[in-house]
Amino acid sequence: VSLLSEWREAIGRELDRLVPKPERWPSTLHRAIRHSLFAGGKRLRPLLALAAARACGGDEGAVLPAACGLEMIHTYSLIHDDLPALDDDDWRRGVLTCHREFGEATAILAGDALLTLGLGCLARYPEDPRFGPARLAILSDVVDSIGSQGMIGGQVEDLAAEEEKDPAAQTPERLERIHSHKTGKLIAVCLRTGGRLAFAPPETIERLSRLGELIGLAFQIKDDLLDVESSREELGKATGKDSARGKLTFPGVHGLERSREILETTAEEAVSVARELEGGDGPLPELASFVERRRN
Ligand code: IPE
Ligand code: IPE
Ligand code: MG
Ligand code: MG
Ligand code: MG
Repeated sequence: VSLLSEWREAIGRELDRLVPKPERWPSTLHRAIRHSLFAGGKRLRPLLALAAARACGGDEGAVLPAACGLEMIHTYSLIHDDLPALDDDDWRRGVLTCHREFGEATAILAGDALLTLGLGCLARYPEDPRFGPARLAILSDVVDSIGSQGMIGGQVEDLAAEEEKDPAAQTPERLERIHSHKTGKLIAVCLRTGGRLAFAPPETIERLSRLGELIGLAFQIKDDLLDVESSREELGKATGKDSARGKLTFPGVHGLERSREILETTAEEAVSVARELEGGDGPLPELASFVERRRN
């Protein structure tokens, strides 16, 4: 088995340890959280944190609980993204969305709880006091990256563009701004988190950021393409929804062929930046190229 699939399993086990058991009060909430968290996500964000730490000479084992905190935050964003007031989706990770299974109120609260649980993990882990300053730097970085000027800003703009009446406002710049914020910001902070927990110098954190922007863009172009080209069975979520809802997407703005070209160029650049950081082949370039090749 490859290192990445070993890590993926370790992430699953660690999440199970960190999240209260389903029997624990309030049981419905914990069952809802676990329904979405253990439905079979790709775990890309925690994997990026582990790979960045390794590339910077850090200890992956020490990074694992914080990496899981990032996956909790990602899963919160998916639960809320699927709500009727946002994208109104029925399927996620191959199972019914949290609100379809548990109702809207529980889904909203499950998202809230996952966000706070995730931030808690980043505040607490790794527990060794020598990580104290890094934990604090990570926490403020994460909060900025997922807040109103980060991921949530991107979500707001995504929904605003969906309601846009003026075709002249649907520019490539607006599209890139949506994608870099709703998807790129979290991916980039995952890489920086791994770097910070490996005590990487500021220049390296800067390069990890650049890599995150590239991977984030490639990842979201691919997400837009899969919505057009894949099926619910393969993808685990509904397809054909972006154009049906009038979302601003890469295929919508650039066409399929040009979107594939931009994806290829972006992914190639990501792989080369990842190789430089890794000093050759390894999990980081492998993850960078996975983003383009992935089928779900
Ligand atoms: C989906 O993310 C949401 C986007 C930012 C496009 P993923 O495709 O990583 O979803 P999971 O975690 O594997 O389910
Ligand atoms: C979701 O983007 C981004 C966040 C959850 C922050 P999408 O709405 O494109 O993701 P999918 O296609 O539903 O997974
Ligand atoms: Mg959305
Ligand atoms: Mg969505
Ligand atoms: Mg999408």
